[in-house]
Amino acid sequence: MKTQLTIALPTGRLGESAIKQLQAIGLANNVSTKTRKLTFIDDSAIQYIMVKPVDVITYVEKGVADMGIIGSDVIMEQQSDVYEVADLGFGQCKFSIAGFDSSLLNQTQDTVLTVATKYPYVTKAYFRKRAQKIDLIKINGSVELAPLLGLSDIIVDIVETGNTLKANGLTIIEDMMEVSAKAIVNRVSYRFNYERIRDITERLNALLEGDFDA
Ligand code: PRP
Repeated sequence: MKTQLTIALPTGRLGESAIKQLQAIGLANNVSTKTRKLTFIDDSAIQYIMVKPVDVITYVEKGVADMGIIGSDVIMEQQSDVYEVADLGFGQCKFSIAGFDSSLLNQTQDTVLTVATKYPYVTKAYFRKRAQKIDLIKINGSVELAPLLGLSDIIVDIVETGNTLKANGLTIIEDMMEVSAKAIVNRVSYRFNYERIRDITERLNALLEGDFDA
């Protein structure tokens, strides 16, 4: 039986914050994003794996990783069977609809809007609720280019500082929902490693509440 706890961390911006937060509760020493190394073991014998944000959930769902840290945008999009154990208070941003022309959303419901996004599930669900017909175009990055080049009328994307929208002359047409970083756990692993996982989530929560004692 696997006894070493494995935590999947996302590469990129969110990963940097996740490592800082884990280090603040005395874990993840030696873990660095400034190397091509993809696995690390800290002084508590916890293993960390660095994976693309969208893959964090896959590793946790399949039980290869016991825990993971990931944005709720990815959780909402992937609809996976993992257990969410803590809101980590960082990585705050929002899902928004953006484009050039805010009146596009007020047209008759028979108008079919072309929407480009990295988040097809979230996007379809949102417009289904509004009874707005859409033609969805899935793209994998630089979504802001789509309305600029006429690939779509509008986009659905996450907005953090708003700098990317602004730099490309787009504005928010409607905010959809809040997004933030979460700690997730494999359901089976949560039962078998309850004490250890509980201890980590309690320390993370105490840190957020400002009463963590290192
Ligand atoms: C995300 C998102 C926006 C940008 C928003 O992209 O898709 O493009 O960040 O951040 P801002 O509001 O602070 O400008 P990401 O950096 O992950 O790159 P990508 O476009 O290649 O997916």
